[in-house]
Amino acid sequence: MEIRPLAPAVGAIVDGVDLAHLADADLKQIIAAWDAHNALLFRGQSLDNDGFIAFARRFGELEHAPIMENGRTPVPGYPEIYVVSNVKGPDGKPIGSLGAGEAVWHTDMSYLDNPPDASMLFARELPPTGGDTWLAGMCAAYDGLPPDLAKAVAGKRIKHDGTFNSGGYKRAGVEVKDDPRESVGAYHPIVCAHPRTGRSALYLGRRRLAYVEGLSLDASEALLDALWAHATRPEYCFAHRWQVGDLLVWDNRATLHRRDPFDETARRIMHRTQIKGATAPIAA
Ligand code: SIN
Repeated sequence: MEIRPLAPAVGAIVDGVDLAHLADADLKQIIAAWDAHNALLFRGQSLDNDGFIAFARRFGELEHAPIMENGRTPVPGYPEIYVVSNVKGPDGKPIGSLGAGEAVWHTDMSYLDNPPDASMLFARELPPTGGDTWLAGMCAAYDGLPPDLAKAVAGKRIKHDGTFNSGGYKRAGVEVKDDPRESVGAYHPIVCAHPRTGRSALYLGRRRLAYVEGLSLDASEALLDALWAHATRPEYCFAHRWQVGDLLVWDNRATLHRRDPFDETARRIMHRTQIKGATAPIAA
């Protein structure tokens, strides 16, 4: 097994390993790389649904997948697997979530009090171009904060909105409010301590309908704009061009991610699992 960084601020590739037959000694090295790089890429994996779930469980207890945009539970018999896909089933309805458009920068489900610690995406079918998934490293982004921004965010919390998902789709049963202080969501510290490594990381959630507690709306918007412009600077990012059989796992406590749009007439099927949040995000 060989592990190499993918980019300076986030991610490493793990070569020479078959995740269907992973030895405990290899898992130990993988977890050390996970703590160091906050996202790992494994290529050329052949995993059926049981194999995907079995590997995901080695990172922790799994969440049951939320109800998808189409109102369905995702994969019959596999409540832990969520489907991200634009493909339509025989009834003309999408078999998964997020369509073919851009998924904007976010961290998964931060509108919950205890968001999932990690997310794993496994590529089953891909369009010829587009649909790249981007990661941004939030430990490096915190370390690189200019002093005025570091001062402005110290001790503050963001309200993380739960109205819309990253594809811009409204979540089922949620009322849309224009004022972020009134919308559904959860407050979390802007600077969190990673529970495994103790490193400080920016925890931003998503930009739309976010609000910095205690500020006027105008001041909150200005601070959020400055923070997001900083956190998504190219030096903190890595763009992943998928191949079928790639498995990418990211740490929601230390990364943001987004997805490029792709041709809606092409097919893209990704399976996702999520590791349960062991704790609520902890202030640094
Ligand atoms: C997501 O934003 O969670 C999905 C990413 C992707 O489809 O690549």
